[in-house]
Amino acid sequence: MDEKMTRLRASELEDSGDVGNNPTANLTMGEVIAARFNRRDLLRGSLAVAAISATLGQRALAANEQPAKKGMAPSFDFKEIEAGVDETHHVAEGYDAQVLLRWGDPIFADAPDFDPMSQSAQKQSRQFGYNTDFVGYIPIDGSSDHGLLVVNHEYTNEELMFPGIGVQDSKDVNFSKMTKDLVDIEMAAHGGAVVEIQRRNGRWEVVKDSRYNRRITAETPMDITGPAAGHERMKTAADPSGRRVHGMVNNCAGGVTPWGTWLSCEENFNGYFWGKVADDHAEAKNYKRYGLGSPAYAWGKFHDRFDVAKEPNEPNRFGWVVEIDPFDPTFVPKKRTALGRTKHEGAAGITNQDGRYVVYLGDDERFDYVYKFVTAGKVNREDRAANFGLLDEGTLYVAKYNPDGTGEWLSLVHGEGPLTEANGFRSQADVLIETRRAADLQGATKMDRPEDIEANPATNRVYVMLTNNTRRKEEQVDPANPRANNAFGHIVEMMPEGGDHAAKTFAWEVLVKCGDPSVASVGATFSSETTRNGWFGMPDNCAIDSQGRLWISTDGNSAKATGRADGLWALETEGELRGTSKHFFRVPLGAEMCGPCFTPNDETLFLAVQHPAEVDEGAPSTFENPATRWPDFKDNMPTRPSVLVITKQGGGKIA
Ligand code: FEO
Ligand code: CA
Ligand code: CA
Ligand code: CA
Repeated sequence: MDEKMTRLRASELEDSGDVGNNPTANLTMGEVIAARFNRRDLLRGSLAVAAISATLGQRALAANEQPAKKGMAPSFDFKEIEAGVDETHHVAEGYDAQVLLRWGDPIFADAPDFDPMSQSAQKQSRQFGYNTDFVGYIPIDGSSDHGLLVVNHEYTNEELMFPGIGVQDSKDVNFSKMTKDLVDIEMAAHGGAVVEIQRRNGRWEVVKDSRYNRRITAETPMDITGPAAGHERMKTAADPSGRRVHGMVNNCAGGVTPWGTWLSCEENFNGYFWGKVADDHAEAKNYKRYGLGSPAYAWGKFHDRFDVAKEPNEPNRFGWVVEIDPFDPTFVPKKRTALGRTKHEGAAGITNQDGRYVVYLGDDERFDYVYKFVTAGKVNREDRAANFGLLDEGTLYVAKYNPDGTGEWLSLVHGEGPLTEANGFRSQADVLIETRRAADLQGATKMDRPEDIEANPATNRVYVMLTNNTRRKEEQVDPANPRANNAFGHIVEMMPEGGDHAAKTFAWEVLVKCGDPSVASVGATFSSETTRNGWFGMPDNCAIDSQGRLWISTDGNSAKATGRADGLWALETEGELRGTSKHFFRVPLGAEMCGPCFTPNDETLFLAVQHPAEVDEGAPSTFENPATRWPDFKDNMPTRPSVLVITKQGGGKIA
């Protein structure tokens, strides 16, 4: 996490490599002198009930009346793996890990085979894309053996993908080695994929002649819907309607809705734009707040729309949650503006007790915020098509975590509070295009890089992954972000009041502070049952299996940072073992762990290995000389980001 001599452009972009773009003086709560205590510790104390009632009030208490399981019986019974770093992946004993889809694999019957020495944009658009992040499984007819896999292709690593490019010097602001052909391959390797898969005789296969298979790229036409659609600030020379845009970029995590659509989230869109607007340009402050101005890609060199000097409104058309119907390959993806414009990590939803759909959203940047969106309408379980406009109408909220363990959802609605014309918000479209500034003015709590969020339907508790923030200073520490120089991240658990995800209040506590518990100065809070392999740093994605158990995947562990590769850990959330973590899977050198996703019967676990060999320490990792040639380990084959399937030998539920 230290500053390094050289940084890969892509890694830097993904890590939001600057100080964050939040200029506000919003309380980090560090300014608030609060009684800092852990509610769970109090629960164990003799005065627990009285103390909590007095401090949190009955409402918060009622929100947390989830009976804890008694006893020391672990809910995970796999034998954990050894933490470490090497060239390949490792899974717990008794489980198989099968490589299902690799970068370049043809996903149509007539698609060309992968040849890394003669790649083209045309070929790439018919093959599986690069850097696999979110993975969703959408059953066909409710099956856990046959369904559609939806996968995000977040970004590209040119130094690992293309022969002769090498690690690009970030001082080379003209990207002198990048040609239009290479840029067009990158654009075709971005976006996402829909792939029909089937399990036959215990083995998962890609159905190549499926009528559902689809590649979505940075060129795929998409509709802009919701309150910002058609607004002046969304119009460009190529699209005077402000309702049609080409492509999605940097799609990180996502979600799957109960009506069987895929939500794919645009994260670090800022890195795709180059050029400048004048300091007094109407969008200058907006673009600064989102971190434009340090391009990680050369796209603007060949495509005018990615140059803000030529097309100043184009960045307003990125940074959205995109809804895609995977069952209709002709479906025009919809950028749902009602869910706000941020560096969206994911969009995990839950059907609320009143039938409305609630989507939790993290904005992954240092000192940015946690959001939720509550639909105006209810999920219609009888009529699938009736749900397709659901995400266009509703209320967006941003979270404020009070020091006493309560919290509030602050609405981002035009005309309310400071969100008025006096502050430059003339309509809800303005509020959504500048979601971050609206949230700043409402006084949201600045968090340590909110990544994935998942709501547990079994308990209605919500888990927020806060991956790290080494820029938080002592005076900025607060109970929800309790460590300065937070290198290893933490997880916050939220309890909506009365289990109502539409409620405007919640209770919360820190579930675990991550890092090595054996180093006192780290301040990690895994349970004492956690082994030296069981702890992790930098939580990123998460999943809840059908038994209501939490699984965490990580991004940022390395030999240097934590002495271990990224991977998947199972984390107990209930009973006496709460906070106990076990190591299930680890990725090869340089990769981060993404996915994770279970089939409904928990018998298959999909994992994504993103950016293997992306190493920016030691010798340069390049196409010719990658840090690992995982997964093929052939001299003429580069490393390939891939989706794996994990199954139990002999069958049965995972772990
Ligand atoms: Fe693409 Fe926030 O990770
Ligand atoms: Ca990633
Ligand atoms: Ca992520
Ligand atoms: Ca991350």
